[in-house]
Amino acid sequence: MEVTLDFPKVKATIESYTEKVDSLIDSYADKKEQIISLLQDIQSQFDYLPQDVMVKISQKLDIPLSQVFSVATFFRAFTLKPRGRHLVTVCLGTACHVKGGRRLVEKMERDYGIKPGETTEDTRFTLEAVNCLGCCALGPVVVVDGKYESKVSPDKLDRVLKKYK
Ligand code: FES
Repeated sequence: MEVTLDFPKVKATIESYTEKVDSLIDSYADKKEQIISLLQDIQSQFDYLPQDVMVKISQKLDIPLSQVFSVATFFRAFTLKPRGRHLVTVCLGTACHVKGGRRLVEKMERDYGIKPGETTEDTRFTLEAVNCLGCCALGPVVVVDGKYESKVSPDKLDRVLKKYK
């Protein structure tokens, strides 16, 4: 079943929609103001926010789809695209940039074919870039699945990423 909506770029299918998700959405019928919490629950099910589920949230809870999307895109914790098995975060804040952070992003693009916001075809890595991780003296900083790596050179990045299959 396919649903096409007027909302920009939304062409959702009902494939990933399950009974479990249905009842989860229903459980928020009396607490629409807790949409952030609902989106967190949905993301923990799928590891991202499928568009078709956001459409269902809008329909079932009678919340404008634009509002659902605006919450989902406002918070960095939410992602609208499926992510890879490992999240690689490269800091491009001023301190890390000066110490070579940009070279790490270029290396990811060269070696894995991904830019910030993209995932490798084999879903091994998702790359993201951030503006500061709050540990500038350790730059360039890279975080892989929550583990901080300091003073990362392109060679060190190679060694670090080999550990993640
Ligand atoms: S600029 Fe990279 S940690 Fe602050």
